[in-house]
Amino acid sequence: MLFAVVIIFVLIIFCILDIITPHKYPIGPKRFPLVGSYLEIRKLRQKLGFYHLVWDHLSQQFGQVFSVKLGRIEAVVVTGYDAVRQVLCKDDFDGRPDGFFFRFRAFYKRLGIVFVDGPMWTEQRKFCMQHLRKMGFGSISMEKLINEEVNNLLLDLIRRSDNGNKPIDVNGLFDVSVLNGLWAMLAGQRFGLYDSKLAKLMELTHVSFRMLDMSGGILNQMPFIRFLAPKCSGYRDIKHILHEFYTFLKASVEDHKHRVNDEEDLICAFLKEIEKNKESTKSFSEEQLLVLLLDLFLAGSETTSSTLSFVILHLLRNQSVQDKVHAELDAAVGDREVLLSDKNNLTYLEAVLMEVQRHSNVAPIAIAHRSIRKTSLQEYKIPNDTLILASIWSVHMDKQHWGDPENFRPERFLNETGQIINDSWFIPFGIGRRRCLGEVLAKTNVFMFVAKILQNFELKVPEGVQLPDIHQEGVTVSPSPFSALFIPRRSFPNSDKRF
Ligand code: HEM
Repeated sequence: MLFAVVIIFVLIIFCILDIITPHKYPIGPKRFPLVGSYLEIRKLRQKLGFYHLVWDHLSQQFGQVFSVKLGRIEAVVVTGYDAVRQVLCKDDFDGRPDGFFFRFRAFYKRLGIVFVDGPMWTEQRKFCMQHLRKMGFGSISMEKLINEEVNNLLLDLIRRSDNGNKPIDVNGLFDVSVLNGLWAMLAGQRFGLYDSKLAKLMELTHVSFRMLDMSGGILNQMPFIRFLAPKCSGYRDIKHILHEFYTFLKASVEDHKHRVNDEEDLICAFLKEIEKNKESTKSFSEEQLLVLLLDLFLAGSETTSSTLSFVILHLLRNQSVQDKVHAELDAAVGDREVLLSDKNNLTYLEAVLMEVQRHSNVAPIAIAHRSIRKTSLQEYKIPNDTLILASIWSVHMDKQHWGDPENFRPERFLNETGQIINDSWFIPFGIGRRRCLGEVLAKTNVFMFVAKILQNFELKVPEGVQLPDIHQEGVTVSPSPFSALFIPRRSFPNSDKRF
């Protein structure tokens, strides 16, 4: 009897402690023991379709900064320019979440670059930036590398489009080409456009991006769920996906061990660092290399590829915008090859690309941050180890700032003389110390692919095809499947080349 009373008492205390919030902590939706606000959030997500819309809905009820308990995880959601900027720029929020999912994907440790913080992150980020720069990040050699990928894709489009009569699926169209540019820097290797191994990995990337969200998904919120529902919780699928990725990455690393002396790509350079730091406590190990490669592979491929698909979608929807880009390209470049340096003279195209990023919000929520000490945010006190979800979408869709954020209007990024307006509310790559590491590569890719495709093709909606209004959600947002006609505007040299 006494035992039962003690158990009930302990349970009551647990339930109370599980739902109370600290003094001066942001308010938020009702929370329940064990599951927190999970059920309400799930209901809203089903109704509104996207997490960033759920956060927008709740911000109207609870204010721009509010709290949610996601299963076992204490989170603060931040919306609106001031609060988002404060979070992304303040060192106190530079941490990344820890938890079951993040360790499960990294050999049950804190490894990689995206989901680590502290000295390990500083060291890995410095290493990556140094080596990516050395391998041509932002230079002519990167342009050359990307140019080769674009030209291959153009030739493939010529071949497949049957003079503009055959519709081409746009989803997945850029996957291998985009990945090749990145993989060349990481592993010094490129794949054929129809390489089945890479196509499979990209398919797995798409699947895993759709299954998860920025908080690590249900597996991180309620890790115990994997024992109760290994399939429904996604545990089994994610385990399989990770196995496939690591098998591929391990094979690449093994292959590099035989040529560790030519320090050309990131894998070679990293293997050398492992040798150098064998005796020290530095964060260079083979497992770290594998998770780093996984992080770069995932962060760099889906985001860029989805952005490019969104560009095509917007150009199909807005014929007059497409006409203006064609006219600008014809005047500034004509028939010669497009160069990266042409970017300065193609300001309308640049404004179109910026507007696609603002309007489409491929990464509507920044990668989750975490408070690494007790700190403050506006009038609130934020405890150490709180998950922070910052809504980039809320900044890009702010009515007061943009006036008509729902409209696709590239001109908003141009001044009266046609020059680009650098608006501080435009933050597709985040800001602060944890901003995107691949921004230069992503921007170069997007510019080169779009400029060269539009120089060579007119894009049209195939007869009877309805363009998608609804997009797919997950870690990032991507357009639902659609196809387009690529009608040649000029004859392309070497178009009889085979792949
Ligand atoms: C259009 C394409 C891309 C978009 C929209 C994008 C967007 C973002 C955003 C919003 C963040 C989070 C910033 C934060 O948490 O505060 C991020 C982080 C990151 N991105 Fe990108 N990204 C793109 C392409 C790339 C590419 C090509 C790479 C590969 C080199 C890359 C690698 C990373 C990495 C490693 C991080 C984590 C940085 C850190 O935690 O220190 N991204 N990106």
